[in-house]
Amino acid sequence: MNDSDSAVKQQNLWPQEARWLHAGIATGVTLQLLTSLWMTPDWQHADYAGFTQVLFSFHAWIGLTTALFLLWQWLWIATSAPMRRQFFPWRGPWQPVWDDLRALYHGRLRRPGPAPGLAALIHGLGLLLISWMALTGTVIFFFLPQGGTSPGAVLLNVIPLHKALVYLVWTYWIGHVGMFCVHWLRRDRILDIFRLGN
Ligand code: HEM
Ligand code: HEM
Repeated sequence: MNDSDSAVKQQNLWPQEARWLHAGIATGVTLQLLTSLWMTPDWQHADYAGFTQVLFSFHAWIGLTTALFLLWQWLWIATSAPMRRQFFPWRGPWQPVWDDLRALYHGRLRRPGPAPGLAALIHGLGLLLISWMALTGTVIFFFLPQGGTSPGAVLLNVIPLHKALVYLVWTYWIGHVGMFCVHWLRRDRILDIFRLGN
C-alpha cells in the first residue's frame, strides 16, 4: 500500500464539525432522558435541597446547552444543500432510500458514513424530533415561576407539548443505539464518529 492509500484509509468518514455536533447532541439528549427518569420539577418549592430537584436543575441547563448545539447543527444544514438533501430528501432523490430498503429486505446493511439513504432520513427525522424537545424545553425555562409563585398559563400549556413526543425520543434512542451495536458487531467503521481530533 502506498502513502496516499494509507492516508485515504485513515481519513475519518465524518467531517470534524459533524463529529463535534454529534458528541454534543448525543450526550445532551442521553443525559436529558436519564435525568427525566428521576427528577422532580417541583417549581412551587424549588429549593434544590434534594437530589431529584438538583437533577431537574441539570435537566434545564443541559437542555439549554443541547439547544445551542442544535442551533449550530441547523445553521450548518441551512448553509449546505448536500446536507439538506441527505437529511431531508423531500424533493428527492429517493433512490438511495429505496436502495437501502431493498438491501435491508435481502439482509444487507449499507456501510456507515454521511451519505443519502435510509439512515440519513431517519437521522433527519430524529433531528426534527429532538429540536421540538429543545424548543419546548427552552420555552419552559423562560416561564419557570420565580420566587415561589404558581406556574402561569404558558407553562401549563407548554409542558404537555414537551411531554407529548417523549416515547418517540426513547424509540429513536433505542433504535439508533441498537443499529450502532449491529454495525459495531460487524466491525464496520462506526467508531469514527466518536473521534473528535483531526
Ligand atoms: C438521542 C440521541 C442522539 C441523537 C439525536 C443522534 C443523532 C445522530 C445524527 C443526526 C447522526 C447523523 C450524523 C451525520 O451524518 O452527520 C447520527 C449518527 C450516528 N450516531 Fe447518533 N445520535 C444520538 C445518540 C447516539 C448514541 C448514544 C450513539 C452511540 C452509542 C450514537 C451513534 C451514532 C453513530 C455510530 C452514527 C453514524 C451512523 C451512520 O453511519 O450513518 N448516537 N446520530
Ligand atoms: C433537548 C432538550 C430536552 C430533552 C430531550 C428533554 C427531555 C425530557 C423528557 C424525556 C422528559 C420526561 C417527560 C415525561 O416523563 O413525560 C422531560 C420532562 C421535562 N422537561 Fe425536558 N427535555 C429537554 C429540555 C428541557 C429544558 C431546556 C427544560 C427547561 C427547564 C425542560 C423542562 C422539563 C420539565 C419541566 C419536564 C417535566 C414535566 C413534568 O414531569 O411535569 N426540558 N424532558
